Amino acid sequence: MTKDILISAKDLRKTYRRGSEEVRAVDGVSLDIKAGEMTAIIGPSGSGKTTLLNMLGCLDNPTSGTLRVGGELVFGGHRELPEGELTLVRRRFYGYVFQKFYLVPTLTVLENIMLPGTFYRGEGGWNPREVMKLLGIDRREDHLPGELSGGEMQRVAIARALINGPKVLLADEPTGNLDSRRSEEIKEILKGLVSRGVAVLMVTHNLELAKAADRVLEIRDGRMH
Ligand SMILES: Nc1ncnc2c1ncn2[C@@H]1O[C@H](COP(=O)(O)OP(=O)(O)O)[C@@H](O)[C@H]1O
Ligand SMILES: [Mg+2]
Repeated sequence: MTKDILISAKDLRKTYRRGSEEVRAVDGVSLDIKAGEMTAIIGPSGSGKTTLLNMLGCLDNPTSGTLRVGGELVFGGHRELPEGELTLVRRRFYGYVFQKFYLVPTLTVLENIMLPGTFYRGEGGWNPREVMKLLGIDRREDHLPGELSGGEMQRVAIARALINGPKVLLADEPTGNLDSRRSEEIKEILKGLVSRGVAVLMVTHNLELAKAADRVLEIRDGRMH
């Protein structure tokens, strides 16, 4: 079965300087991300998972390597796209979900979800009410984040990440702040998105969540195993 390759990374590296020491946070990783596929990145703390995810999500520049998104060269030795075009790639291709939900506390659930749509409205974007229903937060529409449980906050964050119709949902430890029942709910939601053709790429410590993935990539000392 051939599927669309959405992200293609070749020999990605990221090095940091720490005093006189060179830290190889990501040390030559190559991978392809396809539509409708769930990929989990696992590995010990400090192994480079977040750095890799941020590079694959165009949030961080590699030190070297090649990154293509939707066939377009984003990075190939140096940044290929000006910031404005990179912003468009981020908005067109990605939804981002983080362990800390980063909701705006003074905006209601609906307003938080609609926020990215005020900057950009792509084709294939979701209807806010439809996405709230899918995530089971439609009854919370007028509530403020402070009135929600952790699981609900994460579902709002996922709804917000989906509003522009991303092809790839990137999630860094999406269940990191949730108990097992809430984690299970998030797992089912992510599986539902994958069945609708969204590629889910996540870093997780949650073995149940990793088991739901089509592919598990283990990273240690910046290398894939
Ligand atoms: N901005 C940074 N400056 C210097 N070192 C960093 C920076 N970000 C990450 N690192 C280092 O890179 C390595 C990988 O970090 P990270 O990608 O956050 O790992 P993980 O997400 O697997 O815990 C660690 O040694 C970390 O200390
Ligand atoms: Mg991390």
